[in-house]
Amino acid sequence: MGYNLLKGKRGLIFGALNDKSIAWKVAEKAHEEGAEIVLTNTPVSIRLGDLDKLAEKTNATVIPADATNIDDLQNLIEKGMEAVGGKFDFILHSIGMSPNVRKKRGYDDLNYDFLQKTLDISAVSFHKVIQTCKKLDAINEWGSVVALTYVAAQRTLFEYNDMADAKAMLESIARSFGYIYGRSKHIRINTISQSPTLTTAGSGVKGIDKLMDFSERMSPLGNATADECADYTITLFSDLTKKVTMQNLYHDGGFSSMGMSKQAMIQYEKSFEEPDCD
Ligand SMILES: NC(=O)c1ccc[n+]([C@@H]2O[C@H](COP(=O)([O-])OP(=O)(O)OC[C@H]3O[C@@H](n4cnc5c(N)ncnc54)[C@H](O)[C@@H]3O)[C@@H](O)[C@H]2O)c1
Repeated sequence: MGYNLLKGKRGLIFGALNDKSIAWKVAEKAHEEGAEIVLTNTPVSIRLGDLDKLAEKTNATVIPADATNIDDLQNLIEKGMEAVGGKFDFILHSIGMSPNVRKKRGYDDLNYDFLQKTLDISAVSFHKVIQTCKKLDAINEWGSVVALTYVAAQRTLFEYNDMADAKAMLESIARSFGYIYGRSKHIRINTISQSPTLTTAGSGVKGIDKLMDFSERMSPLGNATADECADYTITLFSDLTKKVTMQNLYHDGGFSSMGMSKQAMIQYEKSFEEPDCD
């Protein structure tokens, strides 16, 4: 049951692929909270994923777009506004992909063309979305823009690879554009730093199951689920958080403030028989 937190609001949601996707959960909850939404993803993800099912469930319009392509974004935003009958009040950027991770190229053996793609898809696309919206004046005053990120932007996490650099850039874009869009239109821009989560993108992170176990033991509140992430995202789209902007907001059960926990220490002690590694 919803609270009508987004009643009368219009939203644009990037990145729902299947029912594991964080964006999928956000779309369901935004609909439950009374918003009218447009869903988008790349044509190939729409073909391979289940976006049409979500659209049916949330009464949403689907418009394909590659978020790195400005022409696609212009078309999406213009057609999107037509579909919902006005400017957007909130936008979710829930996009990430690294060809280096996919092709198993380690951080000390990066393919630089792949790195460009990682940065373009996972970080610069956020700038492209916001800049295109600003040029088309597509977001209402006091609107809210959110992107999803990970603590690897601040701390080194084994095997997160060039996605760490992309997330650092993504968070920086939220601050830099947050200033500009805040001054001109009172639009807030934030990133949510989410716990590791078993989604299609999450499964691409090497050793995700062990990482999730580790962060579960380290976090006093345990890992945050995709559903819980969606709840938090909805508060940022609502009018209850109008003065929150340019922030990287941890939604991780406390992981980012921990150094060592008893639960992790117990597991660590069990592993002393294991051979040493770098
Ligand atoms: N799963 C995790 O452990 C975790 C943790 C913290 C943050 N995040 C972030 O959450 C966001 C959503 O990921 P998810 O875990 O829900 O996985 P997901 O695989 O369901 O979503 C990633 C989405 O990015 C889309 N995408 C890729 N290239 C694109 C492009 N060029 N244009 C438009 N869309 C494109 C994919 O089609 C997919 O829908 C990502 O930014 C991810 O880095 C995930």
